[in-house]
Amino acid sequence: MKIIIINGPNLNLLGKREPEIYGNMTFDIFYDHLKTKYPSITLSYFQSNIEGELIDKIQEVGFTYDGIILNAAAYTHTSIGIGDVVKAITTPVIEVHISNTFSRETFRHQSFISPNAKGIIIGFGLKSYELALQSFL
Ligand code: DQA
Repeated sequence: MKIIIINGPNLNLLGKREPEIYGNMTFDIFYDHLKTKYPSITLSYFQSNIEGELIDKIQEVGFTYDGIILNAAAYTHTSIGIGDVVKAITTPVIEVHISNTFSRETFRHQSFISPNAKGIIIGFGLKSYELALQSFL
Protein backbone atom coordinates (compact mmCIF):
# COMPACT_ATOMS: atom_id res chain seq x y z
CA MET A 1 0.00 0.00 0.00
CA LYS A 2 1.44 3.36 -1.10
CA ILE A 3 0.56 6.28 1.14
CA ILE A 4 2.00 9.78 1.14
CA ILE A 5 1.85 12.43 3.86
CA ILE A 6 1.79 15.94 2.39
CA ASN A 7 2.36 18.89 4.69
CA GLY A 8 1.85 22.53 3.81
CA PRO A 9 3.38 25.79 4.95
CA ASN A 10 5.20 26.19 8.25
CA LEU A 11 4.83 22.55 9.18
CA ASN A 12 8.58 22.19 8.60
CA LEU A 13 8.83 24.18 11.85
CA LEU A 14 7.07 21.57 13.99
CA GLY A 15 8.93 21.18 17.28
CA LYS A 16 9.86 24.87 17.30
CA ARG A 17 6.62 26.51 16.19
CA GLU A 18 4.07 27.43 18.90
CA PRO A 19 4.72 24.23 20.90
CA GLU A 20 1.71 24.92 23.12
CA ILE A 21 -0.44 24.34 20.02
CA TYR A 22 1.62 21.98 17.88
CA GLY A 23 3.77 20.10 20.44
CA ASN A 24 7.51 19.65 20.84
CA MET A 25 8.25 16.88 18.40
CA THR A 26 9.82 17.48 15.00
CA PHE A 27 7.97 15.92 12.08
CA ASP A 28 11.08 13.99 11.04
CA ILE A 29 11.18 12.14 14.37
CA PHE A 30 7.45 11.45 14.26
CA TYR A 31 7.73 10.24 10.65
CA ASP A 32 10.51 7.82 11.62
CA HIS A 33 8.26 6.40 14.37
CA LEU A 34 5.45 5.90 11.87
CA LYS A 35 7.71 4.14 9.38
CA THR A 36 8.98 1.79 12.08
CA LYS A 37 5.50 1.08 13.43
CA TYR A 38 3.90 0.42 10.01
CA PRO A 39 6.58 -1.41 8.01
CA SER A 40 4.03 -2.93 5.62
CA ILE A 41 3.09 0.51 4.25
CA THR A 42 5.21 2.17 1.61
CA LEU A 43 5.13 5.56 3.22
CA SER A 44 6.55 8.76 1.80
CA TYR A 45 6.58 12.36 2.90
CA PHE A 46 6.53 15.73 1.16
CA GLN A 47 6.48 19.22 2.64
CA SER A 48 6.38 22.57 0.91
CA ASN A 49 5.69 26.15 1.85
CA ILE A 50 4.65 26.86 -1.75
CA GLU A 51 1.05 26.35 -2.88
CA GLY A 52 1.90 25.37 -6.48
CA GLU A 53 4.43 22.77 -5.32
CA LEU A 54 1.75 21.16 -3.17
CA ILE A 55 -0.62 21.08 -6.16
CA ASP A 56 2.12 19.59 -8.40
CA LYS A 57 2.81 16.83 -5.85
CA ILE A 58 -0.90 16.01 -5.41
CA GLN A 59 -1.27 15.77 -9.22
CA GLU A 60 1.86 13.58 -9.44
CA VAL A 61 0.69 10.98 -6.88
CA GLY A 62 -3.05 11.44 -7.18
CA PHE A 63 -3.79 8.76 -9.80
CA THR A 64 -1.48 5.99 -8.62
CA TYR A 65 -1.13 6.09 -4.82
CA ASP A 66 -3.57 4.35 -2.49
CA GLY A 67 -3.95 7.31 -0.17
CA ILE A 68 -2.93 10.86 0.59
CA ILE A 69 -2.83 12.26 4.12
CA LEU A 70 -2.99 16.01 3.61
CA ASN A 71 -2.37 18.77 6.09
CA ALA A 72 -2.44 21.82 3.85
CA ALA A 73 -1.98 24.01 6.96
CA ALA A 74 -2.95 27.66 6.28
CA TYR A 75 -3.74 26.88 2.61
CA THR A 76 -6.64 24.75 3.89
CA HIS A 77 -8.50 27.95 4.58
CA THR A 78 -7.52 29.91 1.47
CA SER A 79 -6.65 27.69 -1.48
CA ILE A 80 -9.28 27.00 -4.12
CA GLY A 81 -6.44 25.48 -6.19
CA ILE A 82 -5.72 22.81 -3.59
CA GLY A 83 -9.45 22.21 -3.14
CA ASP A 84 -9.79 21.74 -6.91
CA VAL A 85 -6.88 19.30 -7.20
CA VAL A 86 -8.26 17.16 -4.37
CA LYS A 87 -11.47 16.97 -6.40
CA ALA A 88 -9.60 16.25 -9.65
CA ILE A 89 -7.62 13.21 -8.55
CA THR A 90 -8.77 9.63 -7.96
CA THR A 91 -6.61 8.81 -4.90
CA PRO A 92 -8.59 9.29 -1.67
CA VAL A 93 -7.44 12.17 0.51
CA ILE A 94 -7.77 12.35 4.27
CA GLU A 95 -7.53 15.90 5.58
CA VAL A 96 -5.73 16.16 8.90
CA HIS A 97 -4.99 18.93 11.35
CA ILE A 98 -2.86 18.79 14.45
CA SER A 99 -4.87 21.38 16.35
CA ASN A 100 -8.65 21.57 16.67
CA THR A 101 -9.18 24.27 14.09
CA PHE A 102 -12.79 24.75 15.27
CA SER A 103 -11.65 25.83 18.72
CA ARG A 104 -9.43 28.52 17.17
CA GLU A 105 -10.01 31.72 15.14
CA THR A 106 -13.08 31.69 12.89
CA PHE A 107 -10.95 31.99 9.73
CA ARG A 108 -9.70 28.46 10.54
CA HIS A 109 -13.24 27.06 10.51
CA GLN A 110 -13.44 27.09 6.72
CA SER A 111 -11.75 24.41 4.61
CA PHE A 112 -11.59 24.25 0.80
CA ILE A 113 -10.44 20.62 1.13
CA SER A 114 -13.12 19.09 3.37
CA PRO A 115 -15.92 18.90 0.73
CA ASN A 116 -13.79 16.59 -1.40
CA ALA A 117 -11.89 14.70 1.29
CA LYS A 118 -12.72 11.09 2.06
CA GLY A 119 -12.54 11.95 5.74
CA ILE A 120 -11.28 14.53 8.19
CA ILE A 121 -9.25 14.03 11.38
CA ILE A 122 -8.75 17.15 13.45
CA GLY A 123 -7.30 18.00 16.82
CA PHE A 124 -5.44 14.89 17.99
CA GLY A 125 -1.97 16.35 17.75
CA LEU A 126 0.47 14.37 15.60
CA LYS A 127 -1.71 11.34 16.35
CA SER A 128 -4.11 12.75 13.71
CA TYR A 129 -1.68 11.50 11.03
CA GLU A 130 -1.51 8.03 12.58
CA LEU A 131 -5.31 7.78 12.80
CA ALA A 132 -5.49 8.68 9.12
CA LEU A 133 -2.92 5.99 8.31
CA GLN A 134 -4.88 3.41 10.29
CA SER A 135 -8.05 4.33 8.44
CA PHE A 136 -6.34 3.45 5.13
CA LEU A 137 -5.27 0.11 6.61
C1 DQA B 1 -3.02 23.36 11.04
C2 DQA B 1 -4.13 24.37 11.36
C3 DQA B 1 -4.08 25.55 10.43
O1 DQA B 1 -5.12 26.47 10.73
C4 DQA B 1 -2.76 26.27 10.55
O2 DQA B 1 -2.68 27.32 9.60
C5 DQA B 1 -1.58 25.36 10.43
C6 DQA B 1 -1.66 24.03 11.03
C7 DQA B 1 -2.98 22.21 12.04
O3 DQA B 1 -2.42 21.17 11.70
O4 DQA B 1 -3.47 22.33 13.17
O5 DQA B 1 -0.54 25.74 9.95
O6 DQA B 1 -3.29 22.81 9.76
